[in-house]
Amino acid sequence: MKVKTKDLLTLNELSKNELLGLVNESIKLKKDLKKGICKPLLKNKTLAMIFQKPSTRTRVSFETGVFQLGGYALNLSADDLQLKRGETIEDTAKTLSRYVDMIMARVYSHDELEILAKNSTVPVINGLSDSFHPCQILADLMTIKEKKKKLEGLKIAWIGDGNNVCNSLIYGCAKTSIDISIATPKGYEPNSAVVKESKKLVDVQLLNDPVLAVKNADVVVTDTFVSIHHQVTDRTKDFLPKFQVNSNLMKKANHDAIFLHCLPAKRGQEVTSDVIDGPQSVIWDEAENRLHAQKALMASLLRV
Ligand code: CP
Ligand code: NVA
Repeated sequence: MKVKTKDLLTLNELSKNELLGLVNESIKLKKDLKKGICKPLLKNKTLAMIFQKPSTRTRVSFETGVFQLGGYALNLSADDLQLKRGETIEDTAKTLSRYVDMIMARVYSHDELEILAKNSTVPVINGLSDSFHPCQILADLMTIKEKKKKLEGLKIAWIGDGNNVCNSLIYGCAKTSIDISIATPKGYEPNSAVVKESKKLVDVQLLNDPVLAVKNADVVVTDTFVSIHHQVTDRTKDFLPKFQVNSNLMKKANHDAIFLHCLPAKRGQEVTSDVIDGPQSVIWDEAENRLHAQKALMASLLRV
């Protein structure tokens, strides 16, 4: 499975067939791994991982994934690089490109990621910016396909903040023919350019009513009200109690709807324990699938 793009910054870089192919490849890699099969697709390849922000899943799934595929991952805290002392992103990108085969970066500003990608001769993967989280959506689509056995024709409801994860999810839905209803408080809508572009391909509804959004939904998704890049923490009051995913809201979705959350979660805020720890929740498969989806992604970007 090869993809045309050099970098993955938003998810919009992938064609429909490339995205569907990646999802299928991820599922295959997962099945193979469970049978003890793991081809050394990244033998002698190195991945530089730059973290400006904390991470549990992204850090561990990338590092483990590279290791399983026979490569080596370097964990670079932005504080330990000369970036901290003012070396430019351009010079950092050009330097790293002479050493490693791929770069994954978790940054505050998406603009910085674009500069990094433009100045790197090797593939750059977004490990979360203030605007997008494409790797999360690869894992989410993989999880949905595993559970629902299809993607096309489903309906997803996003409840809460129209944030980075939501922006990449909209692109993911548009590419895989999934309709999406997004319920946010006024002023917390997702990126308008992403919505406008995606509306050409699928139904993207922007609502302020979670009950309306979950009607006929096969998948209900939420995320924290306070993302890492948010400076203010009193945002929560704008979301509660209306935009919390609780069992009353889940009852208004399809009876077999599944619940997704990229994690980390705040129980009692964006979601209640009975939902996130309940029978409809697939969060642990979703978290695991970061590993498999990113392995498929890295192999595709390196065209191996
Ligand atoms: N979902 C996710 O990206 O988790 P981390 O912040 O732990 O990497
Ligand atoms: N929206 C969250 C996702 C964390 C994985 C954040 O940006 O902090």
